[in-house]
Amino acid sequence: HPTSSTSSDDSNLSQSHHHDTDTDTIDVHIIPLSSSEAIDRQRGDLQKNVTFSNGLTLVVGVIIGSGIFASPGPVFAYSKSVGVSLIIWFVSGLLAFAGSLCYAELGSAMPSSGGGEHAYLNHAFGSLPAFLFSWSSIALLKPAGNAIICVVFAEYVVNIVAQSSWDPTQPMRHWSNKLIAIACVLVLSGLNSISVSVGTRIQDVFTFIKVVTLLVIGIAGLVVLGQKSLSSHNFDHAFEGTSQPSLGDIALGLYSGLWAYDGWNNLNYVSSEMKNPTRDLPRVIFAGVPIVIIFYLLANTAYYAVLPEEVVMNTNTVAIDFGKQMFGSTGGVLFAICVACSCFGAANGSIFTGARVIYASAREGYLPKMFGKVSEKRRTPVAALGLQAVMTTIMILGGTFSTLVNFYSVAAWLFYLSSILGLLYLRYHEPNLKRPFKVWMVVPILFTFFGLFLFLMPFVQAPLESCLSMVIVLSGLPLWVVKELVSGNRGTRWQDLKEKVMHSFGIAPAGGRHER
Ligand code: ARG
Repeated sequence: HPTSSTSSDDSNLSQSHHHDTDTDTIDVHIIPLSSSEAIDRQRGDLQKNVTFSNGLTLVVGVIIGSGIFASPGPVFAYSKSVGVSLIIWFVSGLLAFAGSLCYAELGSAMPSSGGGEHAYLNHAFGSLPAFLFSWSSIALLKPAGNAIICVVFAEYVVNIVAQSSWDPTQPMRHWSNKLIAIACVLVLSGLNSISVSVGTRIQDVFTFIKVVTLLVIGIAGLVVLGQKSLSSHNFDHAFEGTSQPSLGDIALGLYSGLWAYDGWNNLNYVSSEMKNPTRDLPRVIFAGVPIVIIFYLLANTAYYAVLPEEVVMNTNTVAIDFGKQMFGSTGGVLFAICVACSCFGAANGSIFTGARVIYASAREGYLPKMFGKVSEKRRTPVAALGLQAVMTTIMILGGTFSTLVNFYSVAAWLFYLSSILGLLYLRYHEPNLKRPFKVWMVVPILFTFFGLFLFLMPFVQAPLESCLSMVIVLSGLPLWVVKELVSGNRGTRWQDLKEKVMHSFGIAPAGGRHER
């Protein structure tokens, strides 16, 4: 199982998690002690040193990345009017808020498990859904997430170099984008293989840059709104659009908005290391997510206040257009550099933790052993980083920002939804489970409702990405069968396997519900 390690003797490898801006796998640090006893010894040994303000910076730092600088175009294109797109940004934020509250309950009820969907799905529904989640993280969620951020990075870099006179539909432009995105993956994977601390140092600087960039955009927008003569008058007829968005459009618009809020599920990883989780965890959520919502609404208001609708709709690099309009072409370049830094930092955090998911899975026996090895000299998971770089590259070659967001989100929302269903299931089946933080029941119910909509609608609107996404998730099924056959504690008989399958769905009465 993914393991936490914060003891000082491995401080050169494990990182105190409030330094990571992306804490998906906060519990999955590289452990130099190779034996499983050592891992067991360290399990549950988390230091309780995360304060309220640590938690807050962590949350805001993880969430803000590429999305707020890239999604406004697609959100507007799907929602077809300024008013609807602002509503989509707001609703996306509320969904992230609701989700993080539910995850806080799951995290506080199952603190020792290290956190994360794997643990919750395993506890509620058994090993198969948990395995599918781990598999999907490695094969889809992590590489696609990395790819999206790197693609946005590349868009901005190309714009710095080529000064947007370059037609984006040109094949030259198309391929230079992809090459730069791939270069970004390779450079960051390389840096992360060289040393752990290089990775975290990049992080701290870039977190600061992105928050400042967003603040400047928001404040500049407010100033413009205050001076009517400067503004683009997009708010005069906010709900007049080119056409009515369909339900499918709304779902895909939400996906683009939700990408910008993605990372909210990381909140609860903090819980087991908080000094006072019962008090501070809800406080972090109630402060952190609304702060991001306000930042994002301000930024979008600023974009719309300054830029004509057509510009917002057709751009992937809205911050450049904003910068140019406000401060001339130097402003455009300056904003482009800041956003590129934000993406670079986000990609770094994502690559850092993604490699650790692969590493931890290999140690679990889900992947060949070589991916669970740490380089002798550098103490970094080189093979895992390599595998991840290859998969990320494939995603970059195969998709664009929008297709990758859809592709990523179908799978991501399947698992968010499943975890929240797990919460509801456990409320019913394990009412006595200790829940230091208990979310108001209507929140998971509403979340389930929206989650179902978000998971299902894209199959109509973007069938190719959605089906491909599900094929990859489900391709974990035969792997799980093989894994159970090879490593099954109860031998390799088909009878056992059948039982296991039923257990993992919670439908087999015999011998306890499922193994933990
Ligand atoms: N919201 C981030 C962005 O806009 C994406 C975060 C992805 N990371 C994650 N741990 N899910 O770039």
